[in-house]
Amino acid sequence: MKRLDRRKFLMLAGLSASAIAGGVLLTRRQEGELATEIGLPLREPPLLKVRRSEPGLVEAEIIASRLTTRLAGLTVQALAYNETVPGRTLRLQEGEQVRLTFTNHLDVPTNLHTHGLHISPEVDNPFVLVMPGKSRLHEFTLPKGSAGTRWYHPHPHGKVATQQFAGLSGAIVIENPLDKIPELQAAEEHLLIFKDFTISNGRVEADHSLLDWFGKYGNLPLVNGAYQPRLIAQKATLRLRLLNASNARPYLLKLEDHPLNLIATDDGFIEKPIVLEQLLLAPGERAEVMVQLEQPGSFSLLNIAENPQSLGLEMLEPLLTIVAPVNPQPTPLPTRLATVEEIDLSQVVQTRQFKFGGTAPFSYTINGRTFNMERVDARVQVNTLEIWEIENTTSLIHPFHLHTYPFQILARQKAQSNVWQPEPFRAWRDNINLPAKEKVRIAIPFRDITGRTVFHCHISEHEDRGMMAVLEVTS
Ligand code: C2O
Ligand code: CU
Ligand code: CU
Repeated sequence: MKRLDRRKFLMLAGLSASAIAGGVLLTRRQEGELATEIGLPLREPPLLKVRRSEPGLVEAEIIASRLTTRLAGLTVQALAYNETVPGRTLRLQEGEQVRLTFTNHLDVPTNLHTHGLHISPEVDNPFVLVMPGKSRLHEFTLPKGSAGTRWYHPHPHGKVATQQFAGLSGAIVIENPLDKIPELQAAEEHLLIFKDFTISNGRVEADHSLLDWFGKYGNLPLVNGAYQPRLIAQKATLRLRLLNASNARPYLLKLEDHPLNLIATDDGFIEKPIVLEQLLLAPGERAEVMVQLEQPGSFSLLNIAENPQSLGLEMLEPLLTIVAPVNPQPTPLPTRLATVEEIDLSQVVQTRQFKFGGTAPFSYTINGRTFNMERVDARVQVNTLEIWEIENTTSLIHPFHLHTYPFQILARQKAQSNVWQPEPFRAWRDNINLPAKEKVRIAIPFRDITGRTVFHCHISEHEDRGMMAVLEVTS
């Protein structure tokens, strides 16, 4: 979890032109307006209003529209869900039946993807478009294992990058009885959505230049739409839900003077807290960490980025300041969280290989082909177990994401190595960073649900330009 490929990212424009590429990126960085509000108290997206008219049933509506809002102190035209950027948080309980109506008030087609939910692709369907003025009902029940931090965002092929960059994303927080563990209850919970923006001429600059198709970065790395906000802690033990809703920017997070205690990955709790000095959050990825503030003071949550001016040198990008209570008395961390099933690998029926490649920034491929929604790239039988080996043959990062079916990482292989390094702990995920020239081996139980869906790189520019494939699970 400790690698960041910003340097490689900068070299992507061609080895001979890497310095120029750095210069170009630098120029682009200065293009956007600067924040006019810095260090305001952290605000979290408001909760999405839901109706619970009968026990176990939840109704909610998500509306996409273009509007004028404020980001980093600037008045800006953006795309929003329910009039906030990022969108309102949909808070649900495991087992609930959900009737979610999505309405498109944009002037272009879009759709809604509920990222990380193990529900039918007929409901969470990346292939349908919702035309301007139209609605679509998503009706589903949250199965066991749904608890955790999920999110929603647009998924219209070829248009994800511009719509997401302009502001469309929101969190889904699902709870189950494990959230009642006393040590978790005693902690102060916050949601941090990392999403970078470029703002110019009073609007989010979501248009893409040729270079942006490598993966568009904004010059303002915002947290919940604010620039370097301050989290003023009332309690000394924090539970932070983290979501990377950025198109392309990975965050290598570090908190000054404090370790991060990982308690959950994309798809829920791990078995017990794991102490990390740094945590990599790739685009699309979520994690939950706990922090114990032992001393008073202010501590920066930093993104360890590489400085584009001096290739290879680290630059610490402050994202958020945590202000500890005056006399902090941290409560203990939980010692046990969930039981994460050990997948029985003797049941594997098939091993597949996928190579992520292409000719950036023009097109991106999986096994040499760009996305075609009519072509099925992987046919799988429901309720079977498979191993997938995914290889990044390029010098960019490619965060792999699979819809509908959570998986576990078995092992990773570093660049220029033939050794598979076993994953140090078990965790359910739907998203995994794949650094340049690395391989990852994952186990996927294709449980319960049939249908046609997709897997792709979660850098939305790469996805839009072909790095996506069709999975069909049949009975
Ligand atoms: Cu979050 Cu197919 O995506
Ligand atoms: Cu998804
Ligand atoms: Cu990619």
